[in-house]
Amino acid sequence: MNQLLRKSIEYEKINAHILDPKDRPGFHLTPAVGWMNDPNGFSRYRGQYHLFYQYWPYEPFWGSPYWGHAVSDDLLRWKRLPAALAPDQEYDRDGCFSGTALPEETPEGDRQFMMYTGNVRDPKDPSGRGLQTQCIALGDGLIYRKYSGNPVIGTGDLPPDADPYEFRDPKLLKQEDGTFRALIAGRRKSGGAQILQYVSRNGLQWKYDRCLIGASLATAHLGWMWECPDLFLLDSREVLIASAIEAERTGEYPGGKTCFCMIGETGGDGGFRPEKDHPLDSGFDFYAGQTVLSPDGRRILIGWMQNPDTANRRGIELPINGQMSLPRELRLEDGRVMQRPVRELEKLYEGPEVRRTVKAEEERISVPGIRGRSLDLELSLKPAAGGYSRFGMRFAEGNGCYTEFSYDPAKSEAAIDRSRSGPGSGGMVLRRTKVRDRDGALDLRMILDRYSAEIFINDGEQVLSAVIYTGREAEDITFCVNGTAILDIAGHQIKEK
Ligand code: FRU
Repeated sequence: MNQLLRKSIEYEKINAHILDPKDRPGFHLTPAVGWMNDPNGFSRYRGQYHLFYQYWPYEPFWGSPYWGHAVSDDLLRWKRLPAALAPDQEYDRDGCFSGTALPEETPEGDRQFMMYTGNVRDPKDPSGRGLQTQCIALGDGLIYRKYSGNPVIGTGDLPPDADPYEFRDPKLLKQEDGTFRALIAGRRKSGGAQILQYVSRNGLQWKYDRCLIGASLATAHLGWMWECPDLFLLDSREVLIASAIEAERTGEYPGGKTCFCMIGETGGDGGFRPEKDHPLDSGFDFYAGQTVLSPDGRRILIGWMQNPDTANRRGIELPINGQMSLPRELRLEDGRVMQRPVRELEKLYEGPEVRRTVKAEEERISVPGIRGRSLDLELSLKPAAGGYSRFGMRFAEGNGCYTEFSYDPAKSEAAIDRSRSGPGSGGMVLRRTKVRDRDGALDLRMILDRYSAEIFINDGEQVLSAVIYTGREAEDITFCVNGTAILDIAGHQIKEK
């Protein structure tokens, strides 16, 4: 094993107990120590889920990425394994950037086969950007070795006008005929995001095939680069997901760094033709989503639950920075990708369900049994006589702090406000999004896991995710309606670790 990797594994071992487990989320994956960003290589291998991630163990800030590694049987209880990759070669010395993994038969037996981006800073580039190439690593679920012929896709393999500094995050796909495709995020030198497709017979020798999709007028709201692409079939439609840099603030799009999906099809010429697009999260913290297919055929999405624009400057001192989102089951309904927390969550419920129907009128109310920071809460809101003009739900409330979800039925707009949640927001405190107008009716499901809230609106048409660093003792949840409404509330406590 290489020196750099060994050193990081030892460092992680020594620092594994740096934080009381109660000061971490209970069922969201966090790094043992240091920094985490994108999920990588989310895949099944030898009967388990494997999740790698962008990892810098030495500080709670981004640094030349390693690949951290964890496994799970149920997508919620993760076991950390030693880091899998370190930036220890000439071609990846400034970071083993994001990538994906596939299980593969090789002459030495079954292996995890992964492609990632090698990043090498170019001293000639005025802003110190890296030249990016694509590399292969193979492993047995624990130990990984880099392919001796790396990089397998170099800057010389780029089509004309492709920017060699913005060429990363390969999505590996295996075709029915046994050949491979890699979809790689790129950008034209002349401007505009593109996703480049490379093909290979054996996964080791690659050639440029085509531009799968490039920015056009129809995608002008989606910024200048689409990082971390993924492509899959969902209920017989093709769905492309990626994460936009500098998306515009429009409609449901909160603006800035946004993980989005496009629903469409591959045309006769092999290019992807989007018909619709929408964000996968309109809250603060969800980026670089990747999916895996579960053995029972569910398409499951996980993302980095942070906002790249604020993660490095959250302004609090903690030895870890970053967590993964709750894995979400995807389905397609009326041309929209719908999301739901993975059903495995129900196995973590503790105690009986608390169910109450209350009429809310002007006064802030709490509901017996509905409190805490590890909770699965369902709420169905219906206007009553005279209707209402605003609904608000505060959670992680106490000691003068709270985070608030609100809904304005006249504008059909939902918002999440963490301006009172304490430190750690990096200055990004309010997100608003348009919601489908249901004449004042609204269904919510909120998952709290100590330092985060993930709010699924109207059975997962939209999601708002928020990381909060509010002190753990802030456990109240209260509701307030301006006007009159009926609230049907059901809550489950989730087992604390
Ligand atoms: C997305 C991203 C990827 C890149 C990685 C580097 O958050 O910028 O495009 O591979 O992070 O850590």
